[in-house]
Formats: sequence, C-alpha cells, structure tokens
Amino acid sequence: MGRIIIITGKGGVGKTSLAAAHAMKSAREGKRTLLASADMAHNIGDIFGMRVGNRPVQLLPDLDGLELDPDQLLEEEFPDVARAFVRMLAGESAAGPVPDGQLLLPGLENLFSLLKLAMLHESGEYDRIIVDCAPTGETLSLLKLPELLAWYMEKFFPVGKTMVRLLSPVSRLRYHVSLPDRKAMNELEALHLRLLALQELLKDDRICSVRLVCTPERMVVEETKRSYMYLSLFRYNVDGVFINRVLPEVPDNAFLTGWRDIQKRYLDELHSVFAALPILQLPWYPREVRGQAAIGRICDEILTDPELFSLRPREENEVYVPIEGGYQLVLRIPGAEGEAVKTGCHALDLDISVGNYLRRIPLPNVLRGIQPAETSVRDGILRVSFLTGSGREERKEGGEGQ
Ligand SMILES: Nc1ncnc2c1ncn2[C@@H]1O[C@H](COP(=O)(O)OP(=O)(O)O)[C@@H](O)[C@H]1O
Ligand SMILES: [Mg+2]
Repeated sequence: MGRIIIITGKGGVGKTSLAAAHAMKSAREGKRTLLASADMAHNIGDIFGMRVGNRPVQLLPDLDGLELDPDQLLEEEFPDVARAFVRMLAGESAAGPVPDGQLLLPGLENLFSLLKLAMLHESGEYDRIIVDCAPTGETLSLLKLPELLAWYMEKFFPVGKTMVRLLSPVSRLRYHVSLPDRKAMNELEALHLRLLALQELLKDDRICSVRLVCTPERMVVEETKRSYMYLSLFRYNVDGVFINRVLPEVPDNAFLTGWRDIQKRYLDELHSVFAALPILQLPWYPREVRGQAAIGRICDEILTDPELFSLRPREENEVYVPIEGGYQLVLRIPGAEGEAVKTGCHALDLDISVGNYLRRIPLPNVLRGIQPAETSVRDGILRVSFLTGSGREERKEGGEGQ
C-alpha cells in the first residue's frame, strides 16, 4: 500500500525544502518516490536545477518530480469531471444541458490536483508520494473540499443513493465492496464516487498524513496552531512538526543572542502545543537551501529517524461512545477553546464550527433529528451527547435503513 505525505505550512517557512528532503531520503531507501508540488508557487524545479512540469520527470534514481497545473489537468485529464461540476454547481440535474462557463467556485480547480494525486496513488507506480502543498490557509480550503462536495452531492443529487451508502467511507474499506462499472453511471454519480474515494484516501491513516512546517516566530506559531486545530476538525492525520530556521548559539554576539532568546520563547511554546507529535528542528543554514547537496544535508543531519515514513498509531478520533440513555460523539480538536466551538443540529447533520471553519457531519441514523443534550470542549476534546432513550423515539426518522 502506497504512502502519501502532505507537507504544508505558511509561505516561505521551508515547505519545499523539507518536501524535497523527504523525497530524496525516500528514494535513497530504494523506494519509488514522487515529489509533487500542489503549490501554485512551484519551486521543485528550482531546487533541483531542472525543468519540472505537468508530467513526472526523473530528478534522481527512484525519484520523480511533478508540478501540478490544475487548469491543464482539468482540460486534459478531467473534462468529464469538470462538466459534472459545472452542472452540479449550477444546480442542474445530470440530464440537463451543460452550461458554459467557469467552475463557479474559486479554488475549485485545485481539487483536480488532488484527484490527479489520487490517480497516481491508485496506479501503484510509486511507493511514496510526497506533496509540497500550498500555504496552510489554501491547503485547508483544499482539503475540506472533497468532503464538502460529497456532502453537497448526497443532499442535492440522491442518485444511486443505495450504492453511495454501500460505499460510504467506512464500509467500502472495511468490507471491500467492489465498485460498479463507472461507465454505467452518469457523470454525477461518477463524480460523487470519486469525491468519496478521495476523501477516504486523504483521511486513511494507513496511507496519508500531514506534516506541518513552521519557524519559531509569533505569527507563524499562531498559524501553525490554528492549522493543527482545523486539520483535526476535518479528521486529517497530522503526524509531525518541523521547526525550521532555528538560530545557532553564537557566544559574544548580542544581536544573535537577542534573537535566540526570542526564538526560545516560541520553541518552548511549539514544544508544549505539539508535545503529542514528533518534532524535528532544523538549523538556520548559512546559505539558501538549493541544489542536491543542500537537500542531502537535511537528509543526513535531520531526517535520520529510521521510522520517518512509518505511520504512527493514531488516537481514536470522531467516535460515538455509548453513554447512559444515548451516545456521545467524541472529536479531538487540539487547541480549540470552549467558546470558539459551536455546534448545531439539522435534520440529518451535525454542524461543528470552529472559527471560520464549518464542518458538517452526517449523523448516524439513530441520532438523526435529535438535538444534542449537551456539548462541552475540554483539553481540545469536543463531546456532544445525544439522548436516544424513551420519549425521544418518535423524533427519530423512520424507514431509512442503513
Ligand atoms: N533552514 C534554512 N536555512 C537557510 N535558508 C533556508 C532554510 N530553509 C529554507 N531556506 C530558504 O528559504 C527560502 C524558502 O524556503 P522554501 O523551502 O522554498 O519555503 P516554502 O516552500 O515554504 O515557501 C528558500 O530560499 C530556501 O532556500
Ligand atoms: Mg515552496
């Protein structure tokens, strides 16, 4: 089973340098590796001193590079998917005419980069895919898209509902339900399945994880904490933090000593916030990280853990535990404070909003239509209790078996 590692962080903190080092390290282990840039500010080619484009090119033995161009992907590889999107977002049924125009949702084209990565993963061509991803804000909008759109589709296009149910994220993996022939489905159904599969892949903690890159300075630390919180809200598996540009100790240098003290404060904060995750520090090198030798140095000096690519056992997240008279949903959202988290229930979904991000979780049938009896957030853990006991039975939706 292939491995996907998504490297993200604020602009300029060292994402590409670290993604390249991961990729080089992986190739040196003899694993077929792809270093893919999904950041529109591509610079893989720059680091390796080579032209890299929309098709994989060999950078080193066992290492290919790829700079994804979503617009080109859309035209060349996914014209049918693009058509389905336009129809869906225009609120038209699959049978309607294809309207002209753009994709109507800004940023949506980036989804094609993810779909392409999923295809490359499925092809089995690579043992490991390292993704150099856009700065965190954009990554977050990107990573929530598959779920958001799949949710939207199920609500507005209940086509092939039974099939989609069968293929719901958990069941397909666990029970190995085979996919029906895609040709037999219409575009929207096919799109829906792709989105579900993509969502499942990105959140599959046997395959995919996200690593955060940051520097020890105030704004970056704040953004990194927020990213961790939001990624956890959407149930992504964050499994590492890299603190880059840590200043060396230089005695008798008041300027550097002053800056080291400032960095120390943020290093302490990062180590306490991310205590549950592996943290690696990189020094501030005397020159830019460019060329194979500079990347090789990061491999040799920093990425020395033989378990660098292994998956860590992950704490159970987003589980329903039985409580007296009902169930409690337990969701880890590290760093979330009580007042910043809001929950609300609609007929079929539970809405959880943290800051600017809203996640809509379809509820299991037994909880549909029941308002949460109690919601609490403590130590970064959200607990939402639902009482299903007698007296509430009549509020449940009937007849929709799963
Ligand atoms: N530890 C470091 N020491 C010195 N320069 C660095 C270090 N990490 C990154 N750089 C330089 O900083 C710039 C941004 O790094 P890059 O990896 O491209 O960041 P990002 O992909 O996050 O924008 C590059 O010029 C890179 O060479
Ligand atoms: Mg970059």
